[in-house]
Amino acid sequence: MPIKILHITDFRNLVAIEMESSHGLNILCGDNGSGKTSLLEAIHYLSLGRSFRSATPARLIRQTTEKFSLFSQLLIDSERQLPVGLERDRSGSTRIRIAEKEAESIVELASLLPVRIIHSQSHQLFESGPHFRRKYLDWGLFYHFEAFLPCWRQFERVLKQRNALLRSQRPKRELEGWTNELIKYGTELDHLRRDYIRMLTPYIKECTDALLSMPNFTLHYQPGWNETLDYATVLAHSSAEEFRFGHTLFGPHRADLEVKSSGVAVKHFLSRGQQKLLICAMIIAQGMLLAKLANKRLIYLVDDLPSELDFQSRHKLIALLAKQQTQVFITAVESKTIVDVNDKLDVPMKVFHVEQGRVKS
Ligand SMILES: Nc1ncnc2c1ncn2[C@@H]1O[C@H](COP(=O)(O)OP(=O)(O)O)[C@@H](O)[C@H]1O
Ligand SMILES: [Mg+2]
Repeated sequence: MPIKILHITDFRNLVAIEMESSHGLNILCGDNGSGKTSLLEAIHYLSLGRSFRSATPARLIRQTTEKFSLFSQLLIDSERQLPVGLERDRSGSTRIRIAEKEAESIVELASLLPVRIIHSQSHQLFESGPHFRRKYLDWGLFYHFEAFLPCWRQFERVLKQRNALLRSQRPKRELEGWTNELIKYGTELDHLRRDYIRMLTPYIKECTDALLSMPNFTLHYQPGWNETLDYATVLAHSSAEEFRFGHTLFGPHRADLEVKSSGVAVKHFLSRGQQKLLICAMIIAQGMLLAKLANKRLIYLVDDLPSELDFQSRHKLIALLAKQQTQVFITAVESKTIVDVNDKLDVPMKVFHVEQGRVKS
């Protein structure tokens, strides 16, 4: 659901923001340190209950204040709005409200307000460990499969228990029940991930074709074990090794997604700018699939869109984002690097100026 009204209080350097956003493109421009990234971070926090750039939530609370609060009126349709809010204080306590009622968990907000961020560290998707690629996939699994979240939680719980037993070298028979559960949840997760990749791949191809030239682009999913065998067989064959290392060596917690062009991993030959375009393609594809199959509109947050992109690339990216008919928040130091690039965009647009933690439209 698009964000109609956004109020941000004491989040980073944002003292008291009150803005009415467009349901199309929102361009946030301003000097370095004005608060542009913080504004995207606030929207991201409202959706997912975490930041994309700090693991320490207390850093998000404006210095000298005790709590931050985020509030939004989401647009259900042209006549109805849904108020949602989140507050977090220095003791770590978080309050989430949806339609005037206290909500149990951030999961409820996340499903109402799907957002994706593209920021200066997004190239980690290709350059860092498989954890980032699993996160990319699992974000989509959460929105497409109701079974995903309970299954993933069970898998994590069983994995932890099983690792504790392996670490303390408990007899093999004590492991059996846990191993069977691990196989059950691990196999289910694996199937969900495969289904998701199968559905997503055509959209990624469509988006990469629109943004950059990638001959013979391929995505290859590695389940986290020898893929010619099933999970049960792999665990049965690896128990001696697992006891030696003291933890579970194979499973969906070790899965990866290889992203290649003409058989070579993209991190080896794409420039930073090209990587950025490919990440945008992969994320926009997730939004296309979400619109198509779940009838949900993903909100795209693109921090510092112009950086590392030439005129043509910016042109293509803005056009592709606009084509999605969904809400987009873009930051840039100067608005002309966005606004002047595409003069015939058929979407509503608003430009906001961020200055020392305040926003003017
Ligand atoms: N907890 C905080 N309290 C007050 N100011 C903060 C806090 N965290 C970060 N800042 C400041 O917020 C400013 C805005 O940062 P940022 O949103 O990254 O700016 P921009 O993206 O516009 O360059 C920075 O000057 C930063 O030092
Ligand atoms: Mg910034």
